[in-house]
Amino acid sequence: MPLTSGISEVDTLLGGGIHTGSSTLILGPAGTGKSLFSIQYVCAAVARGERAAMFIFDEELGLLLDRTRVMGFDLEAKRGSGQLVIEQIDAAELSPGEFAHKVRSVVDDLQAKTVVIDSLNGYQAAMPEGGALILHIHELLQYLNRQGAATFVTVAQHGLLGDNIRAPVDVTYLADTVILLRYFEAMGQMRRAISVMKKRTGPHEDTIREYSIRNGGLRVGEPLREFQGVLRGIPTLVGEKTAL
Ligand SMILES: Nc1ncnc2c1ncn2[C@@H]1O[C@H](COP(=O)(O)OP(=O)(O)OP(=O)(O)O)[C@@H](O)[C@H]1O
Ligand SMILES: [Mg+2]
Repeated sequence: MPLTSGISEVDTLLGGGIHTGSSTLILGPAGTGKSLFSIQYVCAAVARGERAAMFIFDEELGLLLDRTRVMGFDLEAKRGSGQLVIEQIDAAELSPGEFAHKVRSVVDDLQAKTVVIDSLNGYQAAMPEGGALILHIHELLQYLNRQGAATFVTVAQHGLLGDNIRAPVDVTYLADTVILLRYFEAMGQMRRAISVMKKRTGPHEDTIREYSIRNGGLRVGEPLREFQGVLRGIPTLVGEKTAL
């Protein structure tokens, strides 16, 4: 049974959901919603009665709890129930090896089946040489896969629109599934789109769907069929305009 997100459109996009024992990379420019999508999976896991662990590098924990509360994610209550552990990691204080050890011990103790590492950019900041990061991450993801966990890793890409978007570290080939988040400009607005770049464990939609972030959470629409060039960031309208 694949793991669902709590948003039926996201599950449909992913061909039914994410498989346990697999890793998912959430890629996108700053502010697109990478953390929120990973938190969406954490909350869905806890709602199913499962346990989840989050390792956050970039954000102050109190701020994360506050800002996600208005989105409808009550992470604090989930921590209180013992189903969720959130570890704030200071990249300057932990070596990559120590971090990997910490993740393994937290996940093993908690028997967590959903694991979030947000973000790899933060992890990379702790690495003296880039190459070793790939090895550490590879080993860690393999371990978590063997434990039957679904692991979500976020990577912030540099650049905003179009062809100049680059990830500081390419781990797309390590992850079993890659979810791509993009901004696009249309009708004088910055809008957001989600698509699935790859999924090793099964079929998925090859559509691009618009999503929005608002108080109350993430909302994902039907496939965008009226636009051409969404992934390049400046699409042209080729059909009738649809509102989300
Ligand atoms: N209440 C809200 N209403 C509308 N939009 C919101 C709201 N709260 C947050 N956002 C949007 O969500 C974005 C943050 O989402 P999230 O933290 O998941 O992004 P991210 O991709 O993880 O960012 P970063 O790369 O900085 O880590 C903000 O940039 C903002 O545009
Ligand atoms: Mg984030």
